[in-house]
Amino acid sequence: MSSPFENSQSARLDLRTWPEVEEYLQSCKGIILPIGSTEQHGPTGAIGTDAFTAEAVALEVGRRTGVLVAPTQAFGMAEHHLGFPGTMSLQPSTLMLLMHDIVLSLATHGFERIFVVNGHGGNIATIKAAFSEAYSSVLKRRLPVANKVRCKLANWFLASEVFKEARNLYGDKEGKHATPSEIAVTLHLHPLLLNKQHPLPPAAPAGPIHGPEDFRRRHPDGRMGSEPYLAKPEDGEILLDIAASSLSKDLSNFLDAS
Ligand code: NI
Repeated sequence: MSSPFENSQSARLDLRTWPEVEEYLQSCKGIILPIGSTEQHGPTGAIGTDAFTAEAVALEVGRRTGVLVAPTQAFGMAEHHLGFPGTMSLQPSTLMLLMHDIVLSLATHGFERIFVVNGHGGNIATIKAAFSEAYSSVLKRRLPVANKVRCKLANWFLASEVFKEARNLYGDKEGKHATPSEIAVTLHLHPLLLNKQHPLPPAAPAGPIHGPEDFRRRHPDGRMGSEPYLAKPEDGEILLDIAASSLSKDLSNFLDAS
């Protein structure tokens, strides 16, 4: 692991030049890749919630560990949210190709440890499938790093310390979608979103869903069992810190592992 960066912007790959990236690779083979989703988050939550949160966690992990952060992938697999305007989704097959191609590009340049910080549950299955595809491709193409490439999926909202704090703050009003914990992080990042917050009637409990129409029928305002009006910006700051601590530990173990 490298020395910490002076601030989170210093962790951004897209603010580096290629000679800087080449030099970085001499001492660190790791990179962080944030991915979110562009999808409805209930009547008071921002469409960009999952991308904002993944990016913020990724940049803070990058700052603390000295590992570069790739540009955020803002679109994810959100087919079941397409009943609500503003949602933009990649089909699983599209997302799989996209993740595969990104991993392959990075592996071509010598990155060996790809740490994906994910902000959206709907991406999990597809990202894991993409890793399998990418492992197969690097071997077939006989890339110099073929046997060394490892990918790891880190879902910040499922980290046990984050989960515990969310339960502690909101109990069973955390719910499953448009949760107060993720909304709190967005309020910390974008105070303008505070204007949109107001109390809501109890949300329909989380349950099985079968596509966008069924989602909207069961969850007419887009929430699944959550009470996002409980979210406060100061909770978001705490949750972000807890998520960054937890994922920084995971990342250092990942970089050290053979
Ligand atoms: Ni979300």
